[in-house]
Amino acid sequence: MGFLRVAGRVAGAGAVAGAGLTAYAAWEARAFVLREVAVPVLPTGQKPLRVLHLTDIHMTPGQSRKQEWLRSLGDLRPDLVISTGDNLGHARSVPVVLDALGSLLDVPGVFVFGSNDYYSPTLRNPLQYLLPDDGDRRTNVPQLPWPELQIGFLEAGWLDLTNRFSTVAVGDTTIAFAGVDDPHLGRDDLRAVAGPADDSADVRLAVTHAPYLRVLDQFARDGYDAIIAGHTHGGQVCLPGVGALTTNCDLDTARAKGLHRHPVLSAPGDPGSSWLHVSAGLGTSPYARIRVACRPEATLLTLTARG
Ligand SMILES: [Fe+2]
Repeated sequence: MGFLRVAGRVAGAGAVAGAGLTAYAAWEARAFVLREVAVPVLPTGQKPLRVLHLTDIHMTPGQSRKQEWLRSLGDLRPDLVISTGDNLGHARSVPVVLDALGSLLDVPGVFVFGSNDYYSPTLRNPLQYLLPDDGDRRTNVPQLPWPELQIGFLEAGWLDLTNRFSTVAVGDTTIAFAGVDDPHLGRDDLRAVAGPADDSADVRLAVTHAPYLRVLDQFARDGYDAIIAGHTHGGQVCLPGVGALTTNCDLDTARAKGLHRHPVLSAPGDPGSSWLHVSAGLGTSPYARIRVACRPEATLLTLTARG
């Protein structure tokens, strides 16, 4: 067999494999799963609290399967919803997101926004996410109608945690919250939410879209029991058996998704730490609707008693 014929067959096999992987990655991007995690942060004897963590929905009007799956989460009847941003993927998505959230808007909720609530998505080379951060945040594009989404959430009774504190009573449990605006855009005002977390509450939770270390360090140092974040998409395109190749921020890839600890760096003699939950989220950029070894997810966090 001549060299050219062998080379042609190799190229053909590569093209078939590439097309197969692309088809699989497009399928996985729509293969939504509910992940369930217990987080031991409540005082002894306190009844467990079921918290639905939603993030990175990146909704476009035509994504009917995602809308149906999101609507079905209302059947979980959680005690609380935490939304960590990147809800939008299109200028006409606000009513679509509000409609898909359905009965979840009747549940107490808190929220912060991410860059993809504020700014329209842009076409980027997907490989760019694997390279060092160039600092370009593509904010020179049309803004998305995030104020309408904010009004929709506020009218539902959800609390805006953008660079602020808030306290929520859910059943018998009092939760002291702090939240920041999106650190990926540098909009986190850490001074606005600095200081020891409220000890009089039953549990202290901090919320951010992107889990940048400066934010995690401050919330852990201030005594928050758990920090809830999105943004990473869990790495989005992962290597089976290896995991995430990027977090799109300065968080290590080992914590790209799931429940981990975040140590109190400023107090080396103190082994204290916060829980960190990062969700891989439900969506992708509309320009890269693929996922590999990283299913799109929502997470049901069950807060349980410590120890
Ligand atoms: Fe996102």
